[in-house]
Amino acid sequence: MPAIYIDKSRQIAPVDPRIYSGFTEHVGRCIYGGIYEPDNKHGLSDPNTGLRKDVLSVLKSLSVPIFRYPGGNFVSNYRWQDGIGPKEHRPRRPELAWLTEESNQFGTDEFMTFCREMNAEPYICLNMGTGTLKDALAWLEYCNSSANTYYANLRRKNGHEEPYHVKYWSLGNEVWGPWQVGQMTAEDYSKKAYQWAKALKLLDPSIKLISCGETGYADWDRVVLKKLAPVVDFHSIHIYTVSQGDHAINVMGPAAAEKAIEITKSLTDLALIEAGLDKEIPVCFDEWNVWDPVRAPGEKGAEERYDLSDALAVASWLNVFVRKADVVKIACIAQSVNVISPIITSPTGLYKQTTFYPLHLFSTLMHGTSLSVHVESPVYEGKTVPSFVKDLSPKGKEVGGSRDLRKWIDVSAVFLEPLSEIRVAIVNRHPTDDFEVPILFGPRTEIVGGKVKVYEVYSDHLEDTNGFEADGGEKVKTAKKEVDLVEEGKDGIKYEVKKHS
Ligand code: AHR
Repeated sequence: MPAIYIDKSRQIAPVDPRIYSGFTEHVGRCIYGGIYEPDNKHGLSDPNTGLRKDVLSVLKSLSVPIFRYPGGNFVSNYRWQDGIGPKEHRPRRPELAWLTEESNQFGTDEFMTFCREMNAEPYICLNMGTGTLKDALAWLEYCNSSANTYYANLRRKNGHEEPYHVKYWSLGNEVWGPWQVGQMTAEDYSKKAYQWAKALKLLDPSIKLISCGETGYADWDRVVLKKLAPVVDFHSIHIYTVSQGDHAINVMGPAAAEKAIEITKSLTDLALIEAGLDKEIPVCFDEWNVWDPVRAPGEKGAEERYDLSDALAVASWLNVFVRKADVVKIACIAQSVNVISPIITSPTGLYKQTTFYPLHLFSTLMHGTSLSVHVESPVYEGKTVPSFVKDLSPKGKEVGGSRDLRKWIDVSAVFLEPLSEIRVAIVNRHPTDDFEVPILFGPRTEIVGGKVKVYEVYSDHLEDTNGFEADGGEKVKTAKKEVDLVEEGKDGIKYEVKKHS
């Protein structure tokens, strides 16, 4: 019989709203045909900016605080200078990450307009593949400088008088990966990134630098953190989980992320202690999601059609970030539109995938202070690994093996001090069983009688997907209801959690 214990005095840390960040890469239909469609054949785009108004409006409902750009793998052969100035002069280039062509019609200034429209902060990933430190410094100057210097003046000439003040800059993307243009060893990367960091901070000391990590499980992370701890502000890690057609593997997958975060925190602490540094280096989980690259290869645009099982996996991912609020300060779902995304567009409209709904619930409701939660639950006893995308995985280790991470009932909770409100996110990952769950709050939490607001994502079948109207519409979405508190002793309530909801 499951039970959830929550005590509002057992606080972990404030939930950083930046854990609900996004990612827009030049890949597939994320930028072109996703957020940007300047030909405006169907009147869905803003005629001045070419940005898709319908897409922006749905993204706005997620209150995305930061967008990472322009890659991903794309950035490692990207020449940012091609994407500025008059559009008719922008060169088309071969693109080596996804083996396509880049028109450069969308570039830095268009991205900044997008972020401004979204009321979000831009986060730029630097090209450490074909790019030089000179290019990186020029990009930073173009974006952030108010001086009377060449690239700052070029920005003004392009119609943007005021600097963009881009705060977040990462030192390369997945530089450890064999697929990356300019792959390096951890030692070579660290030496180079250290020099880049020093120079970038000389030009703009206000920026926050993010080191390129692996999955958190790798020696890469240890080496990089040891060298870069003095000069970086965040350490990034990436993990994608994959279902392999098995629901349990799908929903238990995010356990790997929870372990990865713990290991990264230890590696960071070790690096800081060894260097005698009194600072924090939080985790920037700047790529995460459910992605099966065999089903949805990047070269073909990585358009996944997510089902209810995937939505529950995404909810479990988000529970991890809330539970680890003391360590993870930024997380970017990869990606924001069309490409492994909760939103799918066509030239005439869009639909919200199953995974949109848990993301929306978390990004709008799960704020405040993360609470330590104790859960008693039946445990999944089957195989849990390998459930990660090859090379973006902890190399087949039995990371999901800890029983504690394989509970069918997965929970996070927050306390909103000003409202005196506790919000609980419960994922019943069990494929067939409903559970009546007592939620016990502890003697220091006063329970006020009345109604509880419940937002439930449920559908009859784990395989249910969403689509455009002609394709069945949105079967999986949030239902809102108010339920009367059923008391459980003097300190708790009882709630019936439906199977796979
Ligand atoms: O998000 C898709 C790709 O996955 C990114 O470009 C890359 O960084 C990762 O391998």
